[in-house]
Amino acid sequence: MFSRNYTNRLFGRTKGRSKKKINLKNYYEIADKYKFQNFNENTEYILDVGSGYGETSIFLANRFPDKVIISCEKYIDGNIILLKNIQNNKIKNIQLHNGNVYDILERINKKYFKLVWIFFPDPWPKNRHAKRRLVTSDFLVKLHKNLKENSEIYIATDSVIYVRFILNSIYKCKDYFLWVNQSEINLCIKDYFDIETKYYKKAINSQRKPSLFILRKL
Ligand SMILES: C[S@@+](CC[C@H](N)C(=O)[O-])C[C@H]1O[C@@H](n2cnc3c(N)ncnc32)[C@H](O)[C@@H]1O
Repeated sequence: MFSRNYTNRLFGRTKGRSKKKINLKNYYEIADKYKFQNFNENTEYILDVGSGYGETSIFLANRFPDKVIISCEKYIDGNIILLKNIQNNKIKNIQLHNGNVYDILERINKKYFKLVWIFFPDPWPKNRHAKRRLVTSDFLVKLHKNLKENSEIYIATDSVIYVRFILNSIYKCKDYFLWVNQSEINLCIKDYFDIETKYYKKAINSQRKPSLFILRKL
């Protein structure tokens, strides 16, 4: 078992602020059916980090039917929506990890991932919370170890502060990743995918421009 230091601890909410009661027993019964258990040698995986309400996981599952999506999210209200969508749409290739992405990364010793999506990671804009940001160079290097050859990481954010932070992390990892879309002026998500997550819509409604960073394993 590995120890939790400051950088691999999980911050933020587990449940929403709504007064509506969640039937946790019922939730865990359903979540258990879709729980990520173990890696299979013959399967290629996509890691969806901080899947929120699950829009990205559903999108990835439909777009890559031959891969298994591991959806990492501890926010129960979001996972309930994801599980409903999985059931309603009879989706077979999503496995849920109700928790920290580090739980997954710390237990693998092989290159299982073909793709990693990190959509709108919490920006933690205050200086005193900067250490909570997920997309550090250490985190990217950790992902690098578990990525198959030529695999990619997609990172989206609408936070100017986080853009600077991510750029710094990419620079520190320049021996590990090629920043594929660095010469594009817009870095616009919609140039690549027609997907609108909750946080994408929030950004657009607040007139913030989301940016997408694409990194390819070297
Ligand atoms: C701002 S929300 C974005 C949700 C979604 N991707 C979207 O685009 O709407 C960030 C999410 O990442 C989750 N998260 C933060 N750190 C995480 C970690 N270490 N492992 C798994 N999920 C994490 C949070 O619980 C939160 O729901």
